[in-house]
Amino acid sequence: MSEEKIEYIQWYPGHMAKANREIKEKLKLINVVIEVVDARLPLSSKNPEINQYTWNKQHILLLNKSDLADPEVSLEWMDWFKKNTDIEKIVLFDAFDRRMKTDLVRTIHELNIKEKAQVKCLVCGIPNVGKSTVINSLIGKRKTQIGNKPGVTKGQQWLSTPDHLMLLDTPGILWPKFEDPLVGLHLAWLGSIKDTIYEKENIAADLLKYLLVYYPDELEAIYKIEVAGKNLPEVFDAIAKSRGLLIKGGEYDYARTSVLILNDFKNGRIGRITLERPE
Ligand code: G4P
Repeated sequence: MSEEKIEYIQWYPGHMAKANREIKEKLKLINVVIEVVDARLPLSSKNPEINQYTWNKQHILLLNKSDLADPEVSLEWMDWFKKNTDIEKIVLFDAFDRRMKTDLVRTIHELNIKEKAQVKCLVCGIPNVGKSTVINSLIGKRKTQIGNKPGVTKGQQWLSTPDHLMLLDTPGILWPKFEDPLVGLHLAWLGSIKDTIYEKENIAADLLKYLLVYYPDELEAIYKIEVAGKNLPEVFDAIAKSRGLLIKGGEYDYARTSVLILNDFKNGRIGRITLERPE
């Protein structure tokens, strides 16, 4: 394992451009846009193209997976979005928390300024931020498939909820070009980019580099290692050793160690972590 340069990732498959066009065709029906981002990377996971859907709509931004994010940094992000955007409601959300779901329903009805009998909501965001989980929570039962791999095409469908909402479920959409190379890297960490288009070892090494600066205690606790005085390759080796990830001949298995680190972060096992901070 060596120190690597940031890998420059771009991914905008044709089905996303098509889905974007289809959403635009349905926009005139929509009253409220529920934009879902990942609270651990709230800016990187916010698709700038969604502004095209929201400029003349009531807009809710859900910082979802807040149970996995650093609570202090989440509060800083809430402030930042309130000061720097004109989004009507910014909500720190956990799609598995029933109380938050009840509050969300109330917020949606508050934004029903045209007093429609049934509020039509667009649920949108990039892959893997939890759109299907949010929808399932609002519906009250499991209707839409969760845990889809990014790149698996999913249709758009209207779903009704017991609380007089109609939800337009849409596939995860990215945008044509990430101007900042860090965004592609961040989205790979979140599992929002098809994992066959990047080198997992590079992506895991970059993640580890960040964790070593901001969350060394969490790394030490989960992997039962010591990080003080170690450089990045040495920490990588220590994790492989601690987990017994070896290949024939006793060498460390960097491929499996990389997958371990990426999955542990994705599933929140390393702890409550936020990977970008307001300016
Ligand atoms: P998507 O429609 O935006 O693509 O996302 P989806 O609902 O499929 O959710 C992606 C993963 O994130 C799922 O995990 C889901 O359980 C998890 N998730 C969604 N919302 C929350 C939340 O608020 N908190 C936590 N802790 N997890 C959430 P998965 O099925 O294990 O999929 P994968 O991540 O292993 O692919």
